[in-house]
Amino acid sequence: MRAPEVPTESLSPVSSYNEWDPLEEVIVGIVNGAHFPPWHVAVGAPLSPEQRAVFQERAGQPFPADQIAAARDELDQLVDVLEGEGVKVRRPKPQDHGKSYGAPGWSSSGLYDAMPRDLLLVVGEDVIEAPMAWRSRYHAASAYRPLLKEYFRQGARWSSPPKPDLPDELYVADWTDQPEGEPFRSVITEFEPTFDAADFIRCGRDIFAQRSHVTNGMGIEWVRRHLGEAYQVHELNLADDHPMHIDASLMPLAEGKLLIHPERVPEVPKIFKDWEVRTAPQPAIPDGHPLYMTSKWINMNVLMIDEERMIVEAQDEPMRRLAESWGMAAIPCPFRNFNSFGGSFHCATVDVRRRGGLRSHF
Ligand code: ARG
Repeated sequence: MRAPEVPTESLSPVSSYNEWDPLEEVIVGIVNGAHFPPWHVAVGAPLSPEQRAVFQERAGQPFPADQIAAARDELDQLVDVLEGEGVKVRRPKPQDHGKSYGAPGWSSSGLYDAMPRDLLLVVGEDVIEAPMAWRSRYHAASAYRPLLKEYFRQGARWSSPPKPDLPDELYVADWTDQPEGEPFRSVITEFEPTFDAADFIRCGRDIFAQRSHVTNGMGIEWVRRHLGEAYQVHELNLADDHPMHIDASLMPLAEGKLLIHPERVPEVPKIFKDWEVRTAPQPAIPDGHPLYMTSKWINMNVLMIDEERMIVEAQDEPMRRLAESWGMAAIPCPFRNFNSFGGSFHCATVDVRRRGGLRSHF
């Protein structure tokens, strides 16, 4: 199954083709300055009804200071864990997300810089800034630009799709949840290409993507054409009622090992036929733990340091057991307070460099 590696004599500081090759450098997000965004139909769509109520009520306000402090502490612990495993860690530049900005026809303030995986799509030596559909994430790249400029100077490719206008036409103004059992109805239209980087997951020459409340067909097509013939971008039809980001539904952990959400992947894509597929264990996160913009299935949002080392939430016994039973060392890190902000280790990071080149894993 293992295809010969294409030799890459690369000087680029950015180079990562999949989710599991040995990690050498990574960006870890920050929660400084995190705010609830102004209320907007697109913000509500991927949330549960309870989460929507919280976002409506607290629109424009900072996240609770004690929760920011606790999450910040966990991020710092993650940095220590990664550095302890020999990984170089970089951090974005804090921004004031309470500041308002605008474009013709709209204004907004920001969200946070906690989830670099949402924004930056690294494919090989190319780092692509996603054209995000949320107005509150329009300037999300700013926090990362000092790093991106540095990587560019050192030889990385640095790309950005057409800057979206995000006018009212992009959104379905009277959007409501699809009735139970009916196919997902997106809050965004095909007005212009938009996507979040986290709606893509990389397996070398094959990249898997989903349409969601932030990623439209034109967004996926843009990535497909931009990457060209060396890659195949597969659009998957997952059974997520409120899709936003694929990395709590489908997580390739190593060549030949795929972790899936027990319900969201009704049919494992045929291309994985020679892979071992396991379903994620029931989340250990207790009821009542605040989760502002994610489901409890954020338990499967793990980060691989390489094919044998997985970073696992310190209290997540079931996930630790899964890793160990699958031949991987589980490296614990407390992250439950961070989880409240809508992600876990995969979301909170973005690969800058993993050793290994472009190959096919199927
Ligand atoms: N939408 C997923 C869920 O609610 C969470 C995905 C988070 N991923 C991310 N990259 N922020 O289960």
